[in-house]
Amino acid sequence: MKILVIGSGGRESVIIHAIKNSRIDAEVYCAPGNGGTFYNSENVMIKQDDINGLVNFAKNHKIDLTVVGPEVPLSLGIVDEFTKNGLKIFGTNKRASLLESSKEYAKDFLKRNSIKTADYRSFTDFTQAINFIKEKPHPLVIKASGLAAGKGVFISNSFEGSKNILDSIFNKNIFGKSGKTVIVEDYLDGFELSYMVITDGVSYKPLITSMDYKKVLDGDKGENTGGMGAVSPNPFVSPGLEDKINKTIIEPTLEGLKKEGVDYKGILYAGVMIKDGDAYVLEFNVRFGDPEAQAILIRLKSDIVDLFLSVIDGNLKDYILEFDDNKSICIVLSSLGYPKDYKTGYEISFDNLPNLSKDDGEDYYVFHAGTKMVNGKYYTDGGRVLNICVKGKTPDIVNKAYDIAININFENKYYRNDIGKSLFK
Ligand code: AMP
Ligand code: GLY
Repeated sequence: MKILVIGSGGRESVIIHAIKNSRIDAEVYCAPGNGGTFYNSENVMIKQDDINGLVNFAKNHKIDLTVVGPEVPLSLGIVDEFTKNGLKIFGTNKRASLLESSKEYAKDFLKRNSIKTADYRSFTDFTQAINFIKEKPHPLVIKASGLAAGKGVFISNSFEGSKNILDSIFNKNIFGKSGKTVIVEDYLDGFELSYMVITDGVSYKPLITSMDYKKVLDGDKGENTGGMGAVSPNPFVSPGLEDKINKTIIEPTLEGLKKEGVDYKGILYAGVMIKDGDAYVLEFNVRFGDPEAQAILIRLKSDIVDLFLSVIDGNLKDYILEFDDNKSICIVLSSLGYPKDYKTGYEISFDNLPNLSKDDGEDYYVFHAGTKMVNGKYYTDGGRVLNICVKGKTPDIVNKAYDIAININFENKYYRNDIGKSLFK
């Protein structure tokens, strides 16, 4: 079977790893891929937003299954185009992807379907937005409606601050088209978590829980990033809480989509805030979280290719989704300066990697993200560079992950030192 994976991050690296563990003998291509996918797949130099280029590649190479990692191609309608051309593809179609690509659509959808979310207003005009926030108590949350690579959300503590943010979005166009519409919403003070399920549009199955570390600095300080690390399971999510999220968020969302004629097949990722015992939706993503996917998918026991096919073919109900009983940790090694400015092009050395013993059921992986391979050597090529993942049953997995993190070397290497601290508490 020929499988094409679209994307170039750690998420796509772990998806390829899981495909390689499938019972199906797969020839894997990755577009555009990274320095690591170079090894276990064939990198295809087509950008993730070049939908026609990807369709042509899939047709010419008789690709049997395409798996889309990131939100950008999904929001551009890659699934619709592939399907139109008779090509099998895993991911949400363009309309379903609006849940992530338009925060305005998502908020309106939640409201229409009586699913809890922070009170909000949308604006397309600077002055109207300013007049509205004048009356509002702070803190307030200001969000660009469109895709902004995780950088489009601001929590503002003062009217002056809010004014500056609105000025940068509306008048300085810092997000381009993605900032044409802006959401202003109430600040919810609570406990935040993310939750993912997979659905074929008929039934759904929860993925095991995970937790990502969004902030750049230890102790959840500093700027928001795509994610500096992840663990699975999420130590703060009880079965009771999972049940509540399924009943009050996931099921009404999937029902609402069905009712509104949206054919939703793929991953539904809810960013959730728990406040006074109620679960509020902060945002939706229509794809696996990155690095949550790394922490989750190394624990997958069942066959990922069969999983993707069961979603596409609409028989997820009969698929048995199983994960192992390990715990897992993923530490992101990043380029110093990420999520803002950073330099790349530094050689990565794996020469000092420790020889770690493997206890019962333990395993380690280094998944590439922002790396490239030139003449047999690896170089940094992005903000998030490598993902150190370890799974096992004892707190030793955290030490082992840090042992690896310390001993992979490149200039300007940066990582958080507190990933996994709460995993065994
Ligand atoms: P989002 O991309 O919408 O999930 O927002 C990014 C981050 O901003 C979230 O992970 C939260 O930490 C924070 N956030 C978003 N909306 C709110 C809100 N209404 N109240 C408090 N924090 C929020
Ligand atoms: N780690 C959060 C995300 O993938 O959006």
